[in-house]
Amino acid sequence: MIGQEMQSELLRLATEARGRSYSPYSNYAVGAALLTKDGRVYQGCNIENASFTPTICAERTAFFKAVFDGVREFSAIAIIGSGDLPAFPCGVCRQVMSEFCDDEFVIITSNRDGSEVVTETLDQMMPHRFGPKDLL
Ligand code: THU
Repeated sequence: MIGQEMQSELLRLATEARGRSYSPYSNYAVGAALLTKDGRVYQGCNIENASFTPTICAERTAFFKAVFDGVREFSAIAIIGSGDLPAFPCGVCRQVMSEFCDDEFVIITSNRDGSEVVTETLDQMMPHRFGPKDLL
């Protein structure tokens, strides 16, 4: 698990990232802040497309920015959406997390105003997941 102070900081950075969302079709802006094992933070937002399927989620934007920079070890991610309910990561994003993160990876989800925050590990959120261990 991670400390309360780090959790608040990640939620703050996720909220800042949400401000960069390009989501004219859903009007559901999402921001993410991904903490690397060596203490860096990568931010991401959702980026939509008129053709819909090229849309990318905030979580994957953050992961792919980090992986491009050569970072592959992560401790936690904070995700903030625009709805009344906490923004739990979609299945595709959970699968991307499964590629790079261990069972204890912390996922912090928040609703629009931060009044509801749910924190779980990747193993809690996606048990029995398919991953590198199955192929490598
Ligand atoms: N979205 C995310 O950014 N993360 C998720 O885990 C779920 C969905 C985005 C994709 C799309 O731009 C909008 O939310 C509505 O689905």
